[in-house]
Amino acid sequence: MNADGISRKEALARLASFAEGKRHLVVVGSMNADYTVTTERLPKPGETVNAGPLRVLPGGKSGNQAATAAKLGADVRMLGAVGDDDNAGFLLGELTKAGVNTDAILHVPGASGTTVITVDSHGENTIVYSPGSNGRVSPEYVRDHADVITGAAVLGLCLESPMPTVIEAARIAHEAGVKVLVNDSPFIPELPKELIDNADILLVNEHEMSQLLGIDEPEDGDWDAVDWDAIVAQMAGFGFDQAVITLGGDGSVVIDGGETHRIVPVKVDAVDTTGCGDSFMGTILAGLAAGADLVSSAQVASYVSAYAATGHGAQASYGTTEQVTAKFA
Ligand code: RIB
Repeated sequence: MNADGISRKEALARLASFAEGKRHLVVVGSMNADYTVTTERLPKPGETVNAGPLRVLPGGKSGNQAATAAKLGADVRMLGAVGDDDNAGFLLGELTKAGVNTDAILHVPGASGTTVITVDSHGENTIVYSPGSNGRVSPEYVRDHADVITGAAVLGLCLESPMPTVIEAARIAHEAGVKVLVNDSPFIPELPKELIDNADILLVNEHEMSQLLGIDEPEDGDWDAVDWDAIVAQMAGFGFDQAVITLGGDGSVVIDGGETHRIVPVKVDAVDTTGCGDSFMGTILAGLAAGADLVSSAQVASYVSAYAATGHGAQASYGTTEQVTAKFA
């Protein structure tokens, strides 16, 4: 495996260039109000634990990806739906503040997407998702806004929207030659063939990859010691020549051009890891839109997502280019 460590200075210089994309990027998917509490430890089934004050924070995997990229200076368009509750204005307002273009977002009757999130004293979390308006984002709506997709440099997708909608967005992008990055989250073990056929890059964590490919996880958790050449071949057989596998606090691995590239972790004292994966993906989207390759984009994403782990919530913890640079300079 190639060890793709680059200097901090080089990564931060690359980060600055992510604002220079010539075309916009588009994210199709979810926006959620995250009802979040912090506890000493996560409760076991049937157990009650005490928590700190309830916070309502802007989230949703797709909204988070869009917000990260926009905060890095990328031109970001969001497609999705909010309800007619108070959370609708809150979610749109936060995305707009981050710099996301929300003009094409649909308004439907009923509740916006919500989650219930518990964060423990190590920054780990559990998330329960109620789709609300996200479940009303239809293939027809996506087709009505096809121009936003076909004019983009890259499309970001996750699985918090109905699968027919996700597939339709991928199909429109693929037919127009727009690169498609799919995050298999919330995880499903069997991705539909129509989605795989219309997607270019898969983003999963190590546990998800193991389930998708049917491989055993290393007992000692040492992913550096596994046979990555075999994984590259299996991933290609599954349908992806390009993939990003996140390894939690151990960084990530990028598969590209038949090779693996080890992206070293950026160590921080984590306060809350909610939305760090979305921040990682949003940075990759911004990098690809600015013409960077997948490996470079992931290297920069390590810094941006590490910054996100140092604050509470998802979008609320994301940094601008200046803030990320100042933290790690
Ligand atoms: O990945 C974190 C996100 O997952 C949260 O913001 C929550 O809304 C869920 O979608």
